[in-house]
Amino acid sequence: MPATANKQEFYKELALQLRGLLSGERDAVANAANMSALLYHTLPDVNWVGFYFLKDEELVVGPFQGKPACVRIVLGRGVCGTAAATRHSVVVPDVHAFPGHIACDAASRSELVVPLILGELVAGVLDLDSPSPGRFDEEDRAGCESLAAIYVEASR
Ligand code: SME
Repeated sequence: MPATANKQEFYKELALQLRGLLSGERDAVANAANMSALLYHTLPDVNWVGFYFLKDEELVVGPFQGKPACVRIVLGRGVCGTAAATRHSVVVPDVHAFPGHIACDAASRSELVVPLILGELVAGVLDLDSPSPGRFDEEDRAGCESLAAIYVEASR
């Protein structure tokens, strides 16, 4: 990962790329698919990047890059369900220390989940996993929150 001083620049550049990639398209699944691919191939040291969408009080897996994942997560369960239920991003430096963590890829060691906020509603979450412990910090959280906001805005 770039040094801390450069991380904000890195996310700024990534935000520009994402805006370009999503411009002119409003389909939520198409945009989620392209965004997953962009992030998976641009962010260093990640093994899973993708979306879960909220449907009837459950998160259902959407477009992603990485190994096959669990399909449904009950609201409030796991890292994803916690982020969706609380409407706050969750940074997990060590997934083994997070009570209720749902292991999809056994290689995952740390995780960042950002809720997709649409006004008062949560549409789902953006989930990023890394094989390295402590991969995600506050700058990653802020950066990915900006990216998630671009996705939500583009896909309405
Ligand atoms: N670890 C997540 C489940 C989704 S996978 O990481 C793709 C969780 O605890 O919610």
